[in-house]
Amino acid sequence: MMKPSPIQRRQGLRLVAAAALIGLPALNLRAAAARRPTPSQTEGPFYPDQLPADSDADLLLNQSTQGGQRYTKGQAAWVGGTLTDASGRALEGATIEIWQCDQDGHYHHTRDGSRADPAFQGFGRVAVDTHGRWRFRTMKPVAYSGRTPHIHAKIKLGPTELLTTQLYVEGDPGNARDGLWQRLPPQDRALVTAPYVTVADGLAASYDLVIKR
Ligand SMILES: [Fe+2]
Repeated sequence: MMKPSPIQRRQGLRLVAAAALIGLPALNLRAAAARRPTPSQTEGPFYPDQLPADSDADLLLNQSTQGGQRYTKGQAAWVGGTLTDASGRALEGATIEIWQCDQDGHYHHTRDGSRADPAFQGFGRVAVDTHGRWRFRTMKPVAYSGRTPHIHAKIKLGPTELLTTQLYVEGDPGNARDGLWQRLPPQDRALVTAPYVTVADGLAASYDLVIKR
C-alpha cells in the first residue's frame, strides 16, 4: 500500500476533524429524515358546534354541568404522547384538541341530536409542554354506526390549524372494515394506531404526532 503524501494526510485529518464537528448534527438530521409526518384525516361532521364551558384535559369530569358530573361508563384511559416537528423538536406553544363520542356512540353536537351524556365532556384541549408532551384523561374510544373506534384530534399553533387527524385502537377488529383507516398506507396507519395497555388506573395509549413544517 502506498504511503499517503503529507498533503493527503493533512486532507484526511481535516476530514476527520470536520466529521467530528458535524457528527452529532449529521446524526440528528438522519433521525429527522426518519420522522414521518402524521397523516391528516377528515374532521368529520362532529367537531363541537358549541365548545363546552369545561374543555380541560379531563373528559371524564364535566364541570360545565351542575355540581360537576363524573362519567363512569366505558373504560377510563390516559391518551397522550408527544407532538414534534419533523426534526424531533417539541412543538412548544401548540395546542391539541380531541373530541370523541360517548360510550353510547353520541357526540355533543346538534347534528347528532345533542343527546350525548352530559357527564361526558366529549372534548378537551391541552397545551403541549416544553418537551412536546400532551395527555388527556378520557375513555377508550368506542365504535358507532359504520366507524371503528377513534378519537378525533386537531393541532393548532395560535389560531393556525396545523393538522386534523384521527387516532385508532390497535388490534380492534373494526379497523379492517373502516374505510378511513383502510385508506391509509400501512406506514401511516402505524402512526395513528396505538395499543391500549392496562395500567394501575385503567388503560393508557400513546401517540407520537409529527407535524411537517
Ligand atoms: Fe368520529
